[in-house]
Amino acid sequence: MPSKQVFASQDGAVYTTSTGAPVAQPYAAERVGSVGPLLLQDFHHIDLLAHFDRERIPERVVHAKGAGAHGYFEVTHDITELSCASLFSKVGNKARATVRFSTVGGEAGSADSARDPRGFAIKIKTDEGNLDWVFNNTPVFFIRDPAKFPHFIHTQKRDPQTHLKDADMFWDYLSQNPESIHQVMTLFSDRGHPDGYHNMHGYSGHTYKFVNKEGKFHYVQIHLIKDGGAKSLTEPEAGKLAGENPDYGIQSLFETIEAGNFPSWTVYVQTMTPEQAEKFRYNILDLTKVWPHKDYPMRPFGKLVLNENPQNYFAEIEQAAFSPSHSVPGIEPSADPVLQSRLFSYPDTHRHRLGTNYNQLPVNAPIAPVANFQRGGAMTFVSQGARPNYQSSLVPLKYKPKPYQDVKHEIWLGHANVDLSFVTELDFEQPRALYQKVFSDTDRDHLVHNVVVHLKNAKSKEVKDRTLSVFAAVDQSLSDRIASGIGSSPVAPLKVAPASEAIRFKAFA
Ligand code: HEM
Repeated sequence: MPSKQVFASQDGAVYTTSTGAPVAQPYAAERVGSVGPLLLQDFHHIDLLAHFDRERIPERVVHAKGAGAHGYFEVTHDITELSCASLFSKVGNKARATVRFSTVGGEAGSADSARDPRGFAIKIKTDEGNLDWVFNNTPVFFIRDPAKFPHFIHTQKRDPQTHLKDADMFWDYLSQNPESIHQVMTLFSDRGHPDGYHNMHGYSGHTYKFVNKEGKFHYVQIHLIKDGGAKSLTEPEAGKLAGENPDYGIQSLFETIEAGNFPSWTVYVQTMTPEQAEKFRYNILDLTKVWPHKDYPMRPFGKLVLNENPQNYFAEIEQAAFSPSHSVPGIEPSADPVLQSRLFSYPDTHRHRLGTNYNQLPVNAPIAPVANFQRGGAMTFVSQGARPNYQSSLVPLKYKPKPYQDVKHEIWLGHANVDLSFVTELDFEQPRALYQKVFSDTDRDHLVHNVVVHLKNAKSKEVKDRTLSVFAAVDQSLSDRIASGIGSSPVAPLKVAPASEAIRFKAFA
């Protein structure tokens, strides 16, 4: 049961129309006589019905189901030599944060415990503008070529004819695009259904850049590690909850904060110099790979705490508009093409979902004063008054980053960035290590079970066999156990090119 007290008593406000005119009572309707037809002149009644007709806005095309809360980000360690972001300029700096957690594939009413990656989107309001970290709870992703994103998402959603989720479509895509296997292994472990929204870690996944005041950059990966550890559900627990309480995650986040047990995360950064990146075994722009912690240690620098439930879910969470392109000086995107595509996609969808002036909505409005030449558009709340609408009055930028001019590295990057759909043995090393070295026996048993209960719903033998061949390329015994679980014969590993054929190695041999 929700812990929130329901107020049955009146709160003292006088009932009005949306224009503030007092009305005798909410059910009032003007009509001809006492039982005759209703009158068009009755603004109150039409105002009531017309607003109700327009209560819904488009749900997010992905990540539609979610939960959120407010809190703060605090700097705990000095990283000024890495980034000149004013947020990081002093240990102890604090900024207000709004966080939205989500599942990916389901609609706004779908189950919180579904097997899915979880979104972990953070908006930090700094004195240099909003910094959004639009992360997931997995350190890697399914694709490294952004052109595949809409195709991939379609296969995880509903079939255009049956309007059903479809196991054949799901595994057909994944087995034809085996660079997804690292994320598939994570998704089908119990980490695919975290215990609620706030018992999970968050990862940038992509490589970003921290730029310091000299204009020098480091490649970085950011991790938010849940204080007290992450928790997962087992597949039977997640299935039971999906039926009994599909909003389990929303409820548990709300009640945890209401009870004063504020969820918190320690924020770490892994860093890599451009020189290290050139020698790294994997492409640093490939978000199907992780950076080994022993080579690139985790360095703590911040804390995220959620200590405030929204007063109004729609205004403060549904209307929140996160984007990797909402950033501040000192933090930049890398050339990862998936990240580059995201920089465009989020503001684009916000303009559709919330309108041109989405950044003027209170939850999105920066605390830094906005001064530019954007004017008008639907729902202009902040007009910038009488200030001219062309460059005449605004002072030039005070912050002048020194341009980074490592041309050699930029040329290297151009070569490194071509290795998108070409799958080699390199792509199986990390998933194999995950299965053979990181997972416990229980994790391995659960992975096999979790894949079996899903893959057995596929009807096509070709899709099942191709999927088994991808798992066999990770580990033959894993594939054989899945095959036996779904009643198929063992299948040989997918044939892929050796690691030495990877374009990045060939280009620099
Ligand atoms: C080409 C790749 C991708 C594209 C085109 C894409 C696109 C989108 C779109 C259109 C939304 C809906 C946003 C809204 O309506 O407010 C969304 C939500 C989201 N995406 Fe992505 N996405 C991609 C990959 C990723 C990756 C790799 C991550 C994490 C590392 C990620 C994390 C999220 C999160 C956390 C949300 C939910 C934000 C919220 O709570 O409002 N996405 N994405």
